[in-house]
Amino acid sequence: MFAHDGGIAMNTIYLDYAATTPVRAEVIQAMSQTMETVPGNPSSIYTTGRLAKYELTRARDELAEVLGVAGNELIFTSGGTESDNLAIKGLALANQHKGRHIITSQVEHKAVLDSCQRLQEWGFEVTYLPTDKWGLVDPETLQFALRPDTILVSLIWVNNELGSINSITELGKMVQEHGALFHTDAVQALGKLPIVCRDLPVDAMSVSGHKIYGPKGVGALWLRKGTALQPLIEGGSQESNLRGGTENLPGIVGFSTAAQLIEQERETRVADEQVLMTELSHALDDIPGIRLNTHPELRAPNILNISIPHVDGESLFINLDLAGVAVSNGSACTSGAQQPSGVLTAIGVPDDLARATIRISIGRDTTRETLERFTDILKQEVYKLQKKSKAIA
Ligand SMILES: Cc1ncc(COP(=O)(O)O)c(C=O)c1O
Repeated sequence: MFAHDGGIAMNTIYLDYAATTPVRAEVIQAMSQTMETVPGNPSSIYTTGRLAKYELTRARDELAEVLGVAGNELIFTSGGTESDNLAIKGLALANQHKGRHIITSQVEHKAVLDSCQRLQEWGFEVTYLPTDKWGLVDPETLQFALRPDTILVSLIWVNNELGSINSITELGKMVQEHGALFHTDAVQALGKLPIVCRDLPVDAMSVSGHKIYGPKGVGALWLRKGTALQPLIEGGSQESNLRGGTENLPGIVGFSTAAQLIEQERETRVADEQVLMTELSHALDDIPGIRLNTHPELRAPNILNISIPHVDGESLFINLDLAGVAVSNGSACTSGAQQPSGVLTAIGVPDDLARATIRISIGRDTTRETLERFTDILKQEVYKLQKKSKAIA
């Protein structure tokens, strides 16, 4: 699908950058160079190993610089999913002597929700906060849910399905003042928002490589110095004894390189994406009955989530795919059947409408022309399907 230069197959209108991004050329180069020239195991004590350790430390410190943290506060993982698991389960297990109540929201990524469910099986109590219609947590709702035995709150920063942005500063401050720990999933925030962890009221933060033009299968958990964490993967003293296993050095170098590059370009890119997304929203405005699920202002520059009434969702996505359009839908495949996404249900989108919900997410290769082609195709398909559904009704 992706060409070797990190581009997109000729005829594909790729608008799913929130799902994954093509690895950029500079990252591929840094990774191949590492594979070719750094063969050692960073834990080995002889020169070849020490050279690998040196490269690992360099990549770690460079990523730490981007995030505004110290290198030894980063734990490299296999991606956002593992970082979320490690944060939620690891912080809960290490702090259970203080209480067994956790708070999260109904619109979190599955990695957070499933980890919380596991904690419930292990005897923890979890409160799943409702949100407003954009997927945002109201600070008052959080304040009301905090209890003396609350040890951990985990809230997503930029919602991966909706693109709406939680007020992490206000929410985190409330949690920390209460004496609990605050974790945020920042997988969709990295490269989009300014992030200086040390200045944020946050204790742990998950990030991932493949959403920022880095490789898949590598991510990190930032953990504020001095915060107790129970490791989940044991069997080695790597990552300060918090995540065993020989480090994925080429992946880590690739992730760190991608993070530095995206940070250098962030302000310009965000401005460009904002312009394109505003134009796209306006262009889609006249689709009859269109519903916007992304907050109109508190939103990531690259994500737009819309629901389209009176169209059969399955036919819409088949037709878009046939026309070469790659976008995410509002359903998840559970046991072979398409179920409306839990996030859309939580924000009050009815099932029929959830099936006809599209997440459009743009990235560094998206042009105005691509979005114009997409708009034309979408409008044609919607027109046909809405006509058909009216004829049936
Ligand atoms: C908000 C969020 N959290 C976690 C993840 C999981 O990250 P990874 O694919 O690196 O495991 C994703 C990816 O879809 C995401 O968007």
